Amino acid sequence: MAAGGDTIALVHSSMDSSNKTLLKSEALYKYVLDTSVLPHEPECMRDLRLVTDKHAWGFMQSSPDEAQLLRMLIKLIGARNTLEVGVFTGYSLLATAMALPDDGKVIAFDINRDYYNIGRPFIERAGVAGKVDFREGPALENLDALLADEANLGAFDFAFVDADKPNYVRYHEQLLRLVHVGGIIVYDNTLWCGTVAMPPETPMSDLDKRFSAAIRDLNVRLSADDRVEVCQLAIADGVTICRRLV
Ligand SMILES: C[S@@+](CC[C@H](N)C(=O)[O-])C[C@H]1O[C@@H](n2cnc3c(N)ncnc32)[C@H](O)[C@@H]1O
Repeated sequence: MAAGGDTIALVHSSMDSSNKTLLKSEALYKYVLDTSVLPHEPECMRDLRLVTDKHAWGFMQSSPDEAQLLRMLIKLIGARNTLEVGVFTGYSLLATAMALPDDGKVIAFDINRDYYNIGRPFIERAGVAGKVDFREGPALENLDALLADEANLGAFDFAFVDADKPNYVRYHEQLLRLVHVGGIIVYDNTLWCGTVAMPPETPMSDLDKRFSAAIRDLNVRLSADDRVEVCQLAIADGVTICRRLV
C-alpha cells in the first residue's frame, strides 16, 4: 500500500520492450550508488575520485558504478593480464589493479603522464603499484608495439577502452588480436550522453557531432561483428562488453 492508502498496482503495466529501463531520475541513481556501490568502494578509490572531481577535466573520470562493474568482470573471468586505453588520473586503472590477483598486470596507455601522476600516489597507497605498467603515448602506436611481439598475441584476458573515441574501431581490430578467445573488451561512452539516438539535426558541438557519429559507427560495427558477442549496458555513459568468440 502506498502512503495515503492507495495501492500501487502493476508498476510495470505501462512498460513494453521499448521502455523497460529503470534509471529515470537522479534520485534513483543516487539510491543505487548509496545502497550498492559507494559502501563497497575502497577508501583509496574514493579519495582519488574526490580529488579528481575537483580537476578541470574531472568529468572524464569513470563513474563509481562503472568501476564496480570493471572490478566484477575482472574477477568473474579471473583476468591476470589486462590492458587499458585512457588512464586520466587513474580511477579505472586503480579499480583494475585492485581487482587483479597479486601476480596480475595491467598495461595502461595515456598521452598525458601529468594526469597519471595525480593518481599514482593513490595507486601506491593501495599497494598495487607493482601491477601497473603505465606507458605514455598514443594508444594506437603502443598497441602496435605490443602486436609486433608475437608473444603478446592472445596474451591478454581483458581490455578497457576509454580514450580517443574516433579510433575505437581501430582499437577493436588491435585488441581482437591481443585479447584471447573468451577474453573481454569493454568500451566506454558507447551511448555518448544519449546523442546516438538523437535526430541528426539536434544542435550540438562539433566535437560531440564527431564523437557521436564515431560511436554510432562503432555500435553498428560491433553489433554486426561475428568475432564477438556484444552486451550493451546503459550504465554511466553507455558501456559495451565484447566477448571474443573466434
Ligand atoms: C575519459 S579519460 C579516461 C578516464 C579514465 N578511464 C578514468 O577512469 O578516470 C580519457 C583519457 O584518454 C587520454 N587520451 C586521449 N587520446 C589518447 C590517445 N590517442 N592515446 C592514449 N590516451 C589518450 C586522455 O589524455 C585522457 O586522460
